[in-house]
Amino acid sequence: MNFPAKLLGNNVVTKASSLLRHRGISIRHVVFAFALSIALLVLYFNYFRRTGYSFPIDVMHYAPVTPEVWTDRSFQVRDAFLHAYHGYERFAFPNDELRPLSNTSINNFNGWAVTAVDSLDTMHMMGLEQEYKRAMTAVHDTNFTLPANTRVPFFETVIRQLGGLLSAYALTNDDILRIRADQLGTILAPAFRTASGFPKYGVNTVRGTSDGPLVGSLAEIASYQMEYAYLGKITGKKEHVDRATTATRNFVNADLRQHGGMYPMFWNISSGQAKDAHLSVGAASDSAHEYILKQYLMTARKDKANLEMYLRFTSHVLNNLMYISPNRHLLYVTDSKLYRTGNRPTHNFEHLSCFLPGLLALGAHTLPLNNLEEVGLNFTALADDLLPKQKLGYEALASFDLKDLHLWAAEGLAQTCYLTYADQPTGLGPDIINMLSGGSRPEILWMDAMQDWRTSGRIGPPPGVGDKHPWVGDRTPRNAREREMAYAMRDYYVKNADYQLRPETVESLYILYRVTGDVKWRHRGWDIFQAIEKEAKTPSGYAIIDKVDTYNPQPLDAMPSFFLAETLKYLYLLFQQDDLVPLDKWVFNTEAHPFPVFEWTEEEKEAYGVL
Ligand SMILES: *[C@@H]1O[C@H](CO)[C@@H](O)[C@H](O)[C@H]1NC(C)=O
Ligand SMILES: *[C@@H]1O[C@H](CO)[C@@H](O)[C@H](O)[C@H]1NC(C)=O
Ligand SMILES: *[C@@H]1O[C@H](CO)[C@@H](O)[C@H](O)[C@H]1NC(C)=O
Ligand SMILES: *[C@@H]1O[C@H](CO)[C@@H](O)[C@H](O)[C@H]1NC(C)=O
Repeated sequence: MNFPAKLLGNNVVTKASSLLRHRGISIRHVVFAFALSIALLVLYFNYFRRTGYSFPIDVMHYAPVTPEVWTDRSFQVRDAFLHAYHGYERFAFPNDELRPLSNTSINNFNGWAVTAVDSLDTMHMMGLEQEYKRAMTAVHDTNFTLPANTRVPFFETVIRQLGGLLSAYALTNDDILRIRADQLGTILAPAFRTASGFPKYGVNTVRGTSDGPLVGSLAEIASYQMEYAYLGKITGKKEHVDRATTATRNFVNADLRQHGGMYPMFWNISSGQAKDAHLSVGAASDSAHEYILKQYLMTARKDKANLEMYLRFTSHVLNNLMYISPNRHLLYVTDSKLYRTGNRPTHNFEHLSCFLPGLLALGAHTLPLNNLEEVGLNFTALADDLLPKQKLGYEALASFDLKDLHLWAAEGLAQTCYLTYADQPTGLGPDIINMLSGGSRPEILWMDAMQDWRTSGRIGPPPGVGDKHPWVGDRTPRNAREREMAYAMRDYYVKNADYQLRPETVESLYILYRVTGDVKWRHRGWDIFQAIEKEAKTPSGYAIIDKVDTYNPQPLDAMPSFFLAETLKYLYLLFQQDDLVPLDKWVFNTEAHPFPVFEWTEEEKEAYGVL
């Protein structure tokens, strides 16, 4: 019980009744006043103690901005892109990436000019014809044969290089892109020669063999369906389409009962079955979850298996992996691992997981979540083969409007992703934080807080969703004690303090802006872009920044290709007035390369056995 609050309540009653009696007012009024204050107390305890939502006064106000200013901001992003790309061209092309402090280059993939190929579609969208033309020389000249003792990393090459070629083809129809994509897709195909059809880690392009352990991470074995399906579509080759469908087929056949219908982090590539119980949407898992929905959307929403898998995975996440932090009520998603005491949340929150709000918003935007019967689905029946506890969880979800619920989850998570930037002295977001949990504070599952919120009359915004201020307390604690205090009040400590120029947060801000039309997502993106300009810019490009949680951030000598392919692309699209890539016509792969939504023709369905 909260004593000060209670005493305050009683004082109000005492003072009020003596005042009334003084004026000769009956005992009925006193009883009424007493009942009223009890009611207020009940409200108080429901509102503050049990769920404790922030008041709407906690809103960040942004001054309105004219359309011209937004357009100008998109051009500032284009200037940033040119700065980064010109540095790459001058000091690194045709190697993979620029090292932006030493003005040198690095071939951390295959030496196939990955930054140039990864950047093609962004240049096309930004209207950068000269840069595009020069980058195309790499598309013409790259020799996909590597020295005999090296291997091509399958996953990274598919999402960056193959994805880059395919989306540039989709935007331009230039046939050389289709031809090179076909060659690359074919040269990578030995990876699929496994008992399950899940790809191995790498390919030796000289020997035509696959290479790597027989246990693979979820993201690496299942983030290629979109690329191979679209490649099959534009080449008319059945073998590409067959490759695209192996992951879906394996997932449908996998036994996931003990994982609540979610896909664990490691898989046996021989048997095609899950190998551990680590459930996560972060590193080593992330894009596999993303492709479940996106494969469904890209192939014109015909493949119901993918839709069912998406609903199961999101339901498990909403019910089991989403929590509210104790003081600021920040909504976050974490992972759960097998400890001696059973599967427990780590309360880590990764920057990589910040794609999830965008994915949930995309799902809420495109799927009939509040009317699944329309597509022949019975939502609660999806839990029929799960444990009774999971089944109850589905019923809890179904007692809300599922579309609202997904969108609230998206908004709350995206806000926390943004706040992890805005909370820091640099304005840049750390790679991993650990949320306050345990001790005297019980951990609060988001869905429990949602049920409390509903029971107490839906007062204020849903838990974790109302607008919140960045942290204004001591941002740079000097010793362990101060760190402990900051942790306790800010609700998290920074576990990995580098901003790796990653896209996930601005990606989600972009999708939320397009889906909701709420300009606050744009403003938040602008905050982040300004921090990147201020902290990460070097004379020849942009650098990863370490120690974002201090006033002495440290640049590191790396500029990943995804900074150009994803981070700057999403920022540009966020500020552009025109919706250049409508979300119902295009689907972004996990490297932000847009592929068009397409339908298989009757002949293709027959020839390939697809839906
Ligand atoms: C890298 O190149 C930029 C642009 O030419 C230059 O300003 C900077 O001094 C160079 N840095 C180093 C370490 O050479
Ligand atoms: C590509 O590289 C391989 C291995 O170095 C070489 O044998 C082959 O001739 C090259 N192909 C072309 C078209 O240059
Ligand atoms: C993978 O599954 C196969 C076939 O069931 C089994 O023989 C093998 O031991 C498993 N490998 C691992 C690493 O679990
Ligand atoms: C949906 O499935 C559940 C079983 O999980 C069943 O009780 C319910 O009647 C079904 N609803 C409809 C409309 O078929």
